[in-house]
Amino acid sequence: MPLTKEKEYYKATRRAVAIVNSSVPAKEKLDAIARATARCMESGVSIVLLDSTKTKLIHNFSWGLPKFFLRKGLLDVHKSLGEVPLGQPVIVPDAGSDSRIQFPEMAAKAGIVSMLGVPVMLHGSAVGSVRVYSRKHFEYTNQDIAFVTAMANLVALALGSTTSSQTEGATKDIKSVAPSLRQLRSVTFAHPSERDFANILDFYDIEWVYEPRSFPLKQEDDKITEMFTPDFYLPGLDLYVELTTMKQGLVTRKNRKLRHLREMYPDVKITLLYKNDYDKLLAKYGGGPLAQTRAHGIKRVLFSATEIADRVQLVAQQISKDYASRRPLLLGVQRGFLCFMADLIRCITVPLDVDFLGISYYDRSDDAAVKITKDVDLSVTGRHVIVVEDIIDTGITLSYILGHLKERHTASLATCTLLDRRVRRLADVPLDYVGFEVPDEFVVGYGLDYKEEYRNLPFIAIPVIRKQRAKEK
Ligand code: IMP
Ligand code: MG
Repeated sequence: MPLTKEKEYYKATRRAVAIVNSSVPAKEKLDAIARATARCMESGVSIVLLDSTKTKLIHNFSWGLPKFFLRKGLLDVHKSLGEVPLGQPVIVPDAGSDSRIQFPEMAAKAGIVSMLGVPVMLHGSAVGSVRVYSRKHFEYTNQDIAFVTAMANLVALALGSTTSSQTEGATKDIKSVAPSLRQLRSVTFAHPSERDFANILDFYDIEWVYEPRSFPLKQEDDKITEMFTPDFYLPGLDLYVELTTMKQGLVTRKNRKLRHLREMYPDVKITLLYKNDYDKLLAKYGGGPLAQTRAHGIKRVLFSATEIADRVQLVAQQISKDYASRRPLLLGVQRGFLCFMADLIRCITVPLDVDFLGISYYDRSDDAAVKITKDVDLSVTGRHVIVVEDIIDTGITLSYILGHLKERHTASLATCTLLDRRVRRLADVPLDYVGFEVPDEFVVGYGLDYKEEYRNLPFIAIPVIRKQRAKEK
């Protein structure tokens, strides 16, 4: 005899409670909840969670929904359904004619007729939602809503246990569960370099989503004939990143697609990391194929000692002018800032303070997060701080440092860098004082090193970096 709906709900809830109360990893709990909800509701189900900017909802766990539907685009928390900002369940009886559906064509293509969204409430605020997508017209009863609400509460319990064990209860105000989702995501990377890249992002606490969106590029009649799915999306930076670790021939094709994408979606920010850039990025942290390379001598001098002195003088003049009525605290970032800082302060004519900050770099051997290895000794609260860096590359170090300083309520916060490699930027950090812009090549000298070498060169140059073994694909 078939179970009544009520008994079925009861049974599924009882099972889900047991799973959430067990010691399996949180992602298995969430997977199980999505699956059980889908089975009982005879629908597709997705657990969507709020990103750290609290503006987007990201499909994290789903069941019974096609990939193209999950990759349809990022859900805007205010445009989509609305159960999250409301903190209340929302019912869409007819998806075809409802303005609360953000991607109506995709819903139609997936055959979705009715929808129910129930917010996931954690410590009093909505952090996501359990969404039920039905392929037939569904009059959701109070009983159905109560069941999905119970499941949403179990999602919150599963999430709550991971967030509290990670932060040891330190953060009562949970703004977003996203950063703690790292361990939850069941991501299968297509390429090991993508995992490496994800690890670097995790280290700097940069939230990422793997392949969340496919952009249709070409359409014939009703059929999409060409698509592009960037590898990563970084919600905090609102940036898509595509890694190309493949042969040059395929890169050309990818480049064409990317150009196409930029034309069709001008609001989408996307960056391409070429194999070479990517290897250099990894080598910076001692990994990848370039890690075993050695530098021999200098290939080319970029800026002579005199050119540097002239430029430093100009930057110092500008700072002296801008800080005529405020005493700045110049905060150097270890260790490349050394020469620059020493020359800079001697050219600044207003009274100032100097301190420095040490931070740890990504180390592939452990999965710790970025750490302050030497904090500021002077108090920065209420001070006019200028962060002094040697070079801004991806910008992720500076972005981390600025976040760290903002928490301490400085009176103002400015940035000064000797070199700016703008082409490699990932994090969009504001730069107030810049010495020189540099090309996309590794540079040394005047404080900058390659594996601790060359810091004492009086000029800035491109070193000759040779692979130890010439074998590299
Ligand atoms: P970002 O976080 O990628 O901006 O990295 C910035 C840091 O990486 C700098 O402060 C440098 O310590 C180091 N770095 C980046 N590019 C170079 C380079 O070309 N030569 C030496 N160090 C570099
Ligand atoms: Mg540095």
